[in-house]
Parts: sequence; C-alpha cells; structure tokens
Amino acid sequence: MRSAPAITVLLLIGAACGGEAPKDAPPEPAPKQAPAPEKKAEPTQQPPHARAKERAAMVQVALVDWGVKDETVIEAMKRCPRHRFVPGHLQSRAYWNRPLPIGHDQTISQPTIVGSMTEELKLTATSRVLEIGTGSGYQAAVLAEITPYVYSIEIKAPLAESAKKALQEAGYTSVQQRTGDGYYGWPEEAPFDAIIVTAAAPHVPPPLVKQLKPGGRLILPVGPPFARQDLVLVIKDESGKVFTQSLYAVAFVPLTGSLGKSND
Ligand SMILES: C[S@@+](CC[C@H](N)C(=O)[O-])C[C@H]1O[C@@H](n2cnc3c(N)ncnc32)[C@H](O)[C@@H]1O
Repeated sequence: MRSAPAITVLLLIGAACGGEAPKDAPPEPAPKQAPAPEKKAEPTQQPPHARAKERAAMVQVALVDWGVKDETVIEAMKRCPRHRFVPGHLQSRAYWNRPLPIGHDQTISQPTIVGSMTEELKLTATSRVLEIGTGSGYQAAVLAEITPYVYSIEIKAPLAESAKKALQEAGYTSVQQRTGDGYYGWPEEAPFDAIIVTAAAPHVPPPLVKQLKPGGRLILPVGPPFARQDLVLVIKDESGKVFTQSLYAVAFVPLTGSLGKSND
C-alpha cells in the first residue's frame, strides 16, 4: 500500500493531497500476449546529459521517495527533459516538484502526479495510449519514452500548437496529436490499452471506457472544478467487466468542452 507523500502539499493545481489506496482493489487483469513492436520509442534529440542531475534529483524526491516503484516510469522521467516543456521565464523551476503555469489558465502537472498516474497505466513498449489534455506536451513525452503509440488530444488550439512544437523540437516525433474535445476520445484509433485524462471530469466519460481494450486501464481525476477531486482508476477486465477504484485526492484544472452534452 502506498503511503502519503513526504513532500509538503500546498499546491493548488495538479497536486496530490496524499491518502492511501483502498484495500478492496479490483482483480488485476490477466497478462496479455503483446504483439511484436513495429516501432520503438524514439530518443530525444538533445544531449542526454542536459540538466540530468536536476532531473535525477527531481525523480528521487517526486517519484522514488513518494512510492513510485515502476523502473520503466522512473527511467522514462529521468530521460524526459521537463525544461523543454516549461515556459522560458520558469526555466529555473523546471525541476521543482511543482505544477507550473503554461499560459491559457493551464498548468504542466506536478512530477509526482505525472509519475504516479503513468505507473498506474502499467504500460509496455507496445501499449497504445491516449492522453486527454496535451497541455505542455510533457506527459505525452513521458509516455513516448515508454511506447511509440501515443495519441494526445488538447481542446485549446494555441496549447496544442505549442505542445506540437515542443514535442517535435525535443525529438518526440511519434506522438500523434489532435485538437478537439477529448471527452469523446479518439474512436478512429481505438481501442487503447491505456487512457490518461489530465483534467478533472464530473464523471467518468463513457466514450473513454468504451475505447478501452479488455484488460485496459483508464486513469482520471473525477470531481468538481477547483475543489478536491478523486484520482480514479478504471480497469476493464478481459471479459469486458469494468471496475473503478479511488486512489487518492487531487486538485486538477477542469475538463472543459461539452462534457457529453453534445455529440458535435
Ligand atoms: C493540467 S493541464 C494538462 C497537463 C499536461 N498533460 C502536461 O503534461 O502539461 C490540463 C489540460 O487539459 C486540457 N483540456 C481541458 N478540457 C479538455 C477536453 N475536453 N479535451 C481535451 N483537452 C482538455 C486543458 O486545456 C489543459 O491543457
């Protein structure tokens, strides 16, 4: 069982508030035979040592000390250059374990949250993963360090554009992006092994559950805007039965768009 984070949690946006996973966890899905990879996750174009010491220190505090154990995620976040996704005037804070503003009233999430949510997805090198809320592009880049099959949707066109530029310049050319309302997922590319939503929804969007493969995992904050929300893990088992589990309290920016009230 994961213990509460040791870090002081005073963060307003994208911050974990601690808590423990409930004891009545749903059954783990049976392991699947993964198809042979057609592509490999692509390395970044920057020198691997750029700000590597700061990154390693951040990963120690934000992930390892907090309880993230998955070496794939730890190594991915040691490689992924967060400073390439943070605005210029905040470069000195790029490796703080803090959410940071990225413009348009949005944030790049706190590294602890990025690592913890990614770990819950249990990704492999062949996973097909959908992200809702591209924001800065950082979470997509972390996912792309693990699998080349990353799809990301952002509702705000200027953020989608700047994330695209940042991802390209950092060498994450495999990430597929779309501008639009992520509530409805990406049906043309479904089904997905994993879906991560990085903005708080009032409920679990049914289209996203539908687009999950049997054995797939969906993680998202659920709750009211600008208030305490639950980080919820949805698991679809091999027979298609769906289980949900509340992990811990978080505070994310809200999911916007039609929230299912429109099919446009
Ligand atoms: C906390 S930020 C995401 C952080 C991002 N994952 C990163 O690594 O920087 C939430 C993002 O979700 C986006 N968003 C909100 N509602 C959305 C929707 N319905 N569809 C797609 N993106 C949405 C916001 O515009 C914002 O960029």
